[in-house]
Amino acid sequence: MQGSNGVRDENPSLFQRSVRLARLGKSLRPEQVAELYETPNRKGFGDSALPCFLLSKDLKMPPPKVAEQIADSFDAPASVIRVQAISGYFNVWYDAGTVAQSVLPMIAESGAKYGSSAEGAGKTICMDYSHPNIAKPFGVGHLRSTVIGHSLKRILEKLGYKTAGINHLGDWGTQFGTLIVAFREWGSEELLASKPIQHLFDIYVRFHDEEKQHPELKERARAEFKKLEDGDPANRAMWQRFRDLSLAEFDRVYKRLGVSFDSYAGEAFYEERLAPLIDRLQKLGLATVGEDGALVIDVGEKDQPPLLLRKADGATLYATRDLAAAEYRHDTYDFAQCLYIVGTAQALHFRQLFAVLKRMGYDWAERMVHVEFGWVKFADTMMSTRKGNIIFLDDVIGEAVQLTRKIIAEHNPGLEDADAVAESVGVGAVVFWMLSVKRQKDVNFNWDEVLSFDGRTGPYLQYTHARLCSLMAKWGRPIPGAADADLGRLHTDEERQLLLLLAEWPRRIRQAARQYEPQIIAASLLDMAQAYNTFYQNVRILDGDPAAAPSRILLADCLRQVFENGLYLLGLSAPKRM
Ligand code: ARG
Repeated sequence: MQGSNGVRDENPSLFQRSVRLARLGKSLRPEQVAELYETPNRKGFGDSALPCFLLSKDLKMPPPKVAEQIADSFDAPASVIRVQAISGYFNVWYDAGTVAQSVLPMIAESGAKYGSSAEGAGKTICMDYSHPNIAKPFGVGHLRSTVIGHSLKRILEKLGYKTAGINHLGDWGTQFGTLIVAFREWGSEELLASKPIQHLFDIYVRFHDEEKQHPELKERARAEFKKLEDGDPANRAMWQRFRDLSLAEFDRVYKRLGVSFDSYAGEAFYEERLAPLIDRLQKLGLATVGEDGALVIDVGEKDQPPLLLRKADGATLYATRDLAAAEYRHDTYDFAQCLYIVGTAQALHFRQLFAVLKRMGYDWAERMVHVEFGWVKFADTMMSTRKGNIIFLDDVIGEAVQLTRKIIAEHNPGLEDADAVAESVGVGAVVFWMLSVKRQKDVNFNWDEVLSFDGRTGPYLQYTHARLCSLMAKWGRPIPGAADADLGRLHTDEERQLLLLLAEWPRRIRQAARQYEPQIIAASLLDMAQAYNTFYQNVRILDGDPAAAPSRILLADCLRQVFENGLYLLGLSAPKRM
């Protein structure tokens, strides 16, 4: 698209252009102002609205005054048909045909690349996600981390960043002492071979039951872990086996989800770096031995407890390994950002971790982000491995797939590849359900909500995409190019809504990346699905005005393309039929 200055605009946005013309703001740059635009959710407030509160601070002028000044001095581009200042907002109305002319040819031309940019070129972002614990079931909290991480990875890559997906496996720690003791006491080779995680989990739970009557078990477990850390070959071999068997099971889940990693460097990977790290910390005078013999490091911030580095018996901790991992990542990847996609429960841990890195003199500590998310609840119980009240992930996905198969059998009994479609849709249902809630919020599992084909669900989006594909099949001819379609004919309210949503798409991707929030993509697709339904009900596409058909088909095909792109960003597959 040619901008007014004749330069090819890589990521043109309607809002950006409006703002550039308004030339406002002292310290805020036009691109920053462009990101402030919102879509009003009430009629009468335009197609988009610029809240003037930030500008008001910037200009030291009351918001309504700012809005009026923008409206008065606004040099409207052709796409804008009306502007108005309403109580501190600058509101804009667009002409559908003009929007169509700027947006549809661009989508048709860029296809899968629509919304991409080069802002991240040359920058690497480390992403720590999924990170389940060896010998424990892959829980729903890990699933939430996995799907958020996987989606963010795709969103960031869309903006040109290079990403390093790291599965920081919980493969080290005192729980391996527990497992070694538990397996020697109650382990079964047969069960370990047939159902490794279930079996390891059962003996782990049993250990914690028996520990109440036999407190000496705990001491034994601690000693076995110490032996493991010191390289005892028998313990080492057992640990390796537990790890291999667990990973094989996790990989099954990853395959179903289509998730992969660039690195499986887990906690154990940093083992050799721990002693030298602790040494350095002591030499720097940052780490000190307390009365109880444990080595701690003062975080340097008032209300924060010190970080425990090494227990009195010499065993290292989760936090010690995270310190080593941060240094390693910095040296290996020279990251622009390092993201930790981990539940809110660990907020204190990451605050401490980042503060200690800062105290160590690392300015790159500023580039680390705890991308936190809320709890996952099943029928009002929080998930906790220790007590054994956990739902196995494979079962959840399996159940979703089975229910989907039933729904397909009812609605579309002749469907080809019904099994493959059921797998895509069942998995998509669970993944989308997790992504459709803002990440800081808790999610409550409810089958009806997860699987409904017409609620705000993954199946609904996949179904909308499949309907768009079948519309194209019905059309049966090549998709009209912008030159063959009279885009000025797109003028109904329904068409306008769709066009505006399509125009917004690149900005949505940027927002999702800035806020580390895939929910923005999910919400945008839901809005498009809803707008498409209204369009489909009220506007005759194939058998209406023949002169308007090509432009409507082009619009629908662009929408199909954006659905395909968006489902990909969320990590869902997009079956053509269902
Ligand atoms: N395995 C840990 C858990 O399940 C999460 C690890 C998060 N990543 C990290 N670098 N600490 O709680």
